[in-house]
Amino acid sequence: MSGQHGLAKVLLLASAAAIVLAPASASAADHILSGSVASASGEKLSGVTVSAKLEGSTITNSVYTDESGNYYFPPMAAGKYKVWAQALSFERAPGDVDLSANKQQSLTLTAMTDPERRWRQLPGELMVASLPEETAEDARIKKIFMNQCTGCHTPSYTLQFRFDEGGWNRIINLMKTVNNRGVPQQGQNNQIISLNQKDLAAYLAKVRGPGESPKIKERPRPTGEAARAVWTLYDVPLNQDVGIGTHYQVNDGTNWALGTPSYLMMIMHDGGMDLDGNLWFTSNAFNKNVSLGRIDAKTGDVKHFRVNRNDGRAANTHGLTRDNEGNFWFDVDTGRRGLGKMDPKTEKITVYQSPNNMSPLGGAVTLDVDGKGMVWASAPDGVLRFDPKPRPPSAQTARPSPTAPPAIVTATAGGRRWAGTRSARPI
Ligand code: HEC
Repeated sequence: MSGQHGLAKVLLLASAAAIVLAPASASAADHILSGSVASASGEKLSGVTVSAKLEGSTITNSVYTDESGNYYFPPMAAGKYKVWAQALSFERAPGDVDLSANKQQSLTLTAMTDPERRWRQLPGELMVASLPEETAEDARIKKIFMNQCTGCHTPSYTLQFRFDEGGWNRIINLMKTVNNRGVPQQGQNNQIISLNQKDLAAYLAKVRGPGESPKIKERPRPTGEAARAVWTLYDVPLNQDVGIGTHYQVNDGTNWALGTPSYLMMIMHDGGMDLDGNLWFTSNAFNKNVSLGRIDAKTGDVKHFRVNRNDGRAANTHGLTRDNEGNFWFDVDTGRRGLGKMDPKTEKITVYQSPNNMSPLGGAVTLDVDGKGMVWASAPDGVLRFDPKPRPPSAQTARPSPTAPPAIVTATAGGRRWAGTRSARPI
């Protein structure tokens, strides 16, 4: 992989019906890559993930093998492809395919014997399923781990490492004080983690310490309808502004055996699809250029959009939702967190700020649009509702709404109506 790209968290799920009904976009130059996957002893393997990436492209397509161990990609452009098959508990089987006509490529998977490599390959939910919870104390501390240690990173990120009890203690000493970028915060000390630190360090050293790791819970591979999905994965440029070196990230996540990558250089946060099928993402990462991004679903091209922040950086964004007209709404921190609107047709961004007697948007903001087109967004002390329709000047006075409960205020800003919790402390 090139050091420039990380994995888009945005995955587009398309129907494998494309194989049967050649899509309109399939040109005469498109070919079908198919083949079979078997174990070293010749047993055909179903539900194996087979991926293909055209040289120089940022798009990876993946399909699953069917009950007979056969796979079929949708029609793909001619060219040189990297192809690889992966299944849990097997080594990754790579291949090179020059696709100039319909082509068959068979792949052989050899069993993964090293338990540590098998563990490292697991997705988070299987690591968690494998953690012991038979005794009341194990169940309690596993819950603490899930509640306190999996919000910033996935469980498979933390549990791929091994430390002894002293090591886990030192890790927890840091983790109870950091923000989501790993920077220790003055005066911050997570009390739930502190209170349970001793037990948590002992539990983590028991499951991921010098001794044996837990027995891995198996999960059947996809079959039937579920195995007909075609996954499309887009590479998105990494955040070059995190200050930890631009080529820090060497694992883009496509090789499961390498474990779970760090998320620190990922630029994306929430994602959504516009009415033309293109993918959009917010960026909550500290950076200079990206507030919103768009991935062209056909070409994989990524375009960045910047809203200025009052400190010279790009404004951070977090939540994302789409209204009935196809506009995206998101929170955007220009210095005071406001509401942003992106019209994908004109690519124009408008920022609306709540009035000063109301909270700004804030917290880990999520948004939704109701049936009347009103935009709802979370605020540090409650929720805000925004009416995107401009108000006639006669309706723009800030009088209290007779029906609103006392804690709710309504007011107009920029000719548009807001309702929200009265801010005790306007920010
Ligand atoms: C507020 C956010 C946050 C919370 C909560 C958090 N971490 Fe982390 N942790 C981070 C960040 C950021 C990193 C660096 C991540 C990266 O490179 O992707 C990290 C890294 C780690 C690492 C890797 C350390 C290394 O040496 O590479 C471990 C292990 C870890 N965390 C364990 C934990 C445990 C256990 C808990 C719960 C007690 C926890 N974390 C809670 C933010 C957090």
